[in-house]
Amino acid sequence: MTNLAVAGTGYVGLVAGVCFAEMGHHVTCVDIDEDKVNLLRDGISPIYETGLEELMRKNYAAGRIQYTTDYQAAYRAADAIFIGVGTPEQPDGSANLSYIATVARQIAESIEQDCLVVVKSTVPVGTNDKVEQFIRDFLVHDVKVEVASNPEFLAQGSAVHDTLHAERIIIGTESAWAEELLRRIYAPFQLPIVAVNRRSAEMIKYASNDFLALKISYMNDIANLCELVGADIQDVAQGMGYDPRIGNQFLNAGIGFGGSCFPKDTKALANLASQHGYELRTVQSAIRVNADQKTMLYKKASKRLITFNGLKVAVLGLTFKPGTDDLREAASLENVPLLLEQGAEVHAYDPVGAANFARLYPEGAHGKGSIRYVSDPEEALTEANVCFILTEWGEIRQLAPEAYHRLMRTPLVYDGRNLYEVAQMRDANVEYHSIGREPSL
Ligand code: UGA
Repeated sequence: MTNLAVAGTGYVGLVAGVCFAEMGHHVTCVDIDEDKVNLLRDGISPIYETGLEELMRKNYAAGRIQYTTDYQAAYRAADAIFIGVGTPEQPDGSANLSYIATVARQIAESIEQDCLVVVKSTVPVGTNDKVEQFIRDFLVHDVKVEVASNPEFLAQGSAVHDTLHAERIIIGTESAWAEELLRRIYAPFQLPIVAVNRRSAEMIKYASNDFLALKISYMNDIANLCELVGADIQDVAQGMGYDPRIGNQFLNAGIGFGGSCFPKDTKALANLASQHGYELRTVQSAIRVNADQKTMLYKKASKRLITFNGLKVAVLGLTFKPGTDDLREAASLENVPLLLEQGAEVHAYDPVGAANFARLYPEGAHGKGSIRYVSDPEEALTEANVCFILTEWGEIRQLAPEAYHRLMRTPLVYDGRNLYEVAQMRDANVEYHSIGREPSL
């Protein structure tokens, strides 16, 4: 058992802390927000994540995890401190490192024994060299401190599973002492460990995320071409996926990638390259394709309809993907404002994300348009003139093609997630437009 502290109780920090506790370590999670800490102690997670609260309660009851705002006490006794605070995007696309700097300073002022500081947050290559120097500059006690990079590969919605069953653990260290300590901490997970130097570890995180973003943008680009030449992207993806060099995952064309990672990490890497006088053309292209793809359906629908003014528009799904209440960089944030500007009456449904969306767009009038939130997808479809499917929630996928025909005033559907077979929608007499496939009519 090792004494671990975790700075930050967001996605990365909280999930890591809980999983370390589950593996038998003694963990103290630190957050500056007193209210959040109180909720955590009550077993309430600030994020929606399958299985997380169950593990929180179990490990809290077993005394393996604690939550506190008292960072000094937590850091003083830690063998290793994991940093999982945010690195939000700045207006120029670079990563904002101010939260990391604050934690680094607190660590320097608190530690009283040799300690390994492990950065889990996604940071530009080279940052951890600076974090180490920064901590050493501000050290109060004469102790050994080193910084390691240990990037996180969990996806929202499956964070606990991804952590406990990760394909690999990347550890980036500059000494045998740091590598051995991290190997020991991760030993109970029984997962493959890739040990590299610190800068390579930092780069593995960006290169992996940006590769996946590239894959998605590539499929979206090909999907748009499929529409022009009469091919079907679903069939194309299936045929491609059999080749193990390509792989059959992340080939789904749609309305672009959202979330807190791909949009930010593509821009951050392109930005890092340009700081070094290099143009990262592949990643820049992925960013450009993605920006266009987000409003692809809206553009298609605008060509088909004279106006959205006064039309009842059903919007099914608001979050950037299912299994989360997160709206960051979601296509809904671009499409709904466009619809409202055009005077549409939006009836929005999302099983989990509606409350967050309503904070940004409260129910009622917005300029010429208006928005209402409904608690089931059928209600959104009732008497609608047009429907946009933006997130592939199971509740939406389950709707039968006939439901669109039966409930809508005009069964006109724009599906950004290719949830239905075109032929099924055709048979149900629904005018169906999707991504990279022929329309049903
Ligand atoms: C992503 C990565 O998948 C994780 O490995 C990584 O650890 C995480 O970022 C991170 O850096 O923290 P996440 O953003 O939670 O995870 O979500 P994904 O499931 O990867 O989806 C991202 C976006 O891509 C979603 O908008 C999704 O709809 C879209 N997507 C995904 C597609 O459009 N097509 C696909 O085939 C797959």
